[in-house]
Amino acid sequence: EVFEGIQKKAQEVYDNANATQEEINAKAAEIGQQIEKDFAGEEVVLIGILRGAVLWMGDIMKNVNLDMVIDFMAVSSYGASTKSSGVVKINKDLDTNISGKNVIIVEDIVDSGTTLNYLKAYLQNHDAKCVKICTLLDKPEGRRVDIDVDYIGFTVDDRFIVGYGLDFDQKYRNLPYITYLEQE
Ligand code: IMP
Ligand code: MG
Repeated sequence: EVFEGIQKKAQEVYDNANATQEEINAKAAEIGQQIEKDFAGEEVVLIGILRGAVLWMGDIMKNVNLDMVIDFMAVSSYGASTKSSGVVKINKDLDTNISGKNVIIVEDIVDSGTTLNYLKAYLQNHDAKCVKICTLLDKPEGRRVDIDVDYIGFTVDDRFIVGYGLDFDQKYRNLPYITYLEQE
């Protein structure tokens, strides 16, 4: 009943779904195969970025048939001006030693690129063998720092996206589809 209420509200506030669960499943399978190919015979460490990446993390990990360890990090930006300053606060650090490991960061969306730029450098400084990025969504128009994104689910316009892990004021992460904030 609660979930129905949230969905009803979402229908009122948001335009209708772009990517459905079926489309996301197909994309995760495709990316999973690519990761298997890229790291054939090797071990990988998947690092999910809380909280937005939770659903996408589950999709990717079950589609990668390799020796795998998973971990999570939680990060936040220092206020509004930090998009340009590039300062990121770590709220939950790694519990895994990634020295010499193939690391894949699993993120919900790459917008300015600030968060991932910081995280990639942070993980490289922990002596990872390599650090790749796997994002559900890419918003190239928002980019402020140059960053290589290795695996991309869907490219989106410069709109505010919610659903499938992504929030607006911590809500709508549980919507089983990707949609966007309606603009007047
Ligand atoms: P970046 O550092 O600017 O690339 O932003 C990364 C983070 O900002 C993401 O992990 C999201 O948490 C958040 N974010 C950026 N764009 C959106 C959006 O359209 N909807 C929801 N969250 C967003
Ligand atoms: Mg996030």
